[in-house]
Amino acid sequence: MSKLLEVKDIHLTIDEAEILKGMEFSIEQGEVFALIGPNGCGKSTLAYTLMGINNYQPQKGEIVFKGKNLNKMKINERAKLGLTLAWQEPARYHGVTVREFLSLGLKSRGEDVSEKKIRDALNQVAIRPGQYLDRFIDKTLSGGERKRIELASLILMEPDLVILDEPDSGVDVVALNNIGEVINHFRENGTGILLITHSEEMLHYADRAALVCEGEIIRQGKPDAISDYFKSYCLPCHKEVECDTEVAS
Ligand SMILES: Nc1ncnc2c1ncn2[C@@H]1O[C@H](COP(=O)(O)OP(=O)(O)OP(=O)(O)O)[C@@H](O)[C@H]1O
Ligand SMILES: [Mg+2]
Repeated sequence: MSKLLEVKDIHLTIDEAEILKGMEFSIEQGEVFALIGPNGCGKSTLAYTLMGINNYQPQKGEIVFKGKNLNKMKINERAKLGLTLAWQEPARYHGVTVREFLSLGLKSRGEDVSEKKIRDALNQVAIRPGQYLDRFIDKTLSGGERKRIELASLILMEPDLVILDEPDSGVDVVALNNIGEVINHFRENGTGILLITHSEEMLHYADRAALVCEGEIIRQGKPDAISDYFKSYCLPCHKEVECDTEVAS
């Protein structure tokens, strides 16, 4: 399998705070790579840096996606190349209906907007099209509903790599299963996934996992092993334990 994404020694400082301190990992086509770690360790910051959000320009290191260096590319160029992000807190779009929002995903790929495709994508995330297609994506939708609608838009975009920032937060058990199915759907289509999560249920969908501590990956390996280490030594943090980078098997 070829490398889809290579993250090489990424350092990012914002307002004199060094948040990413040499992040390094790679993801292959159709691979689900999970990142776990405590609050504030830099997971979402990494997601913004990969996506090229304003002010998240690394001072050092390289992001290589499909063989191309992304460092100087703007967010829309990265999206065109097939990289997408589902936000930890999905945005609200006042005056935009669910149907319009999902149509944009298809139009951006130059495809005809078919009502059937849109309905299928909503069904995949357990959102009833009849009830939701004409609703606005504003504060009248719950956070969990917005998260699922955002996932439906990713299904329609058919990206090559999708970054899911805590897709499981604020959703119920049924939705959790649907998210798992969506992850499997992406994997079967060869889409790589960077899965940021705190949930063990979600980790079961990962092929490999990494543990982030204070802006660095300190361990990579099988999801179960990484999860066990995290629970034993990071909750609470055991500073006396040697946290050197190690590939757990
Ligand atoms: N724009 C910014 N300016 C200054 N500090 C920031 C900025 N963005 C993030 N930080 C800090 O960087 C650290 C990492 O934040 P980040 O949101 O990446 O954490 P996280 O791992 O996603 O946490 P969580 O699990 O709570 O979502 C935090 O200490 C945060 O306060
Ligand atoms: Mg976060």
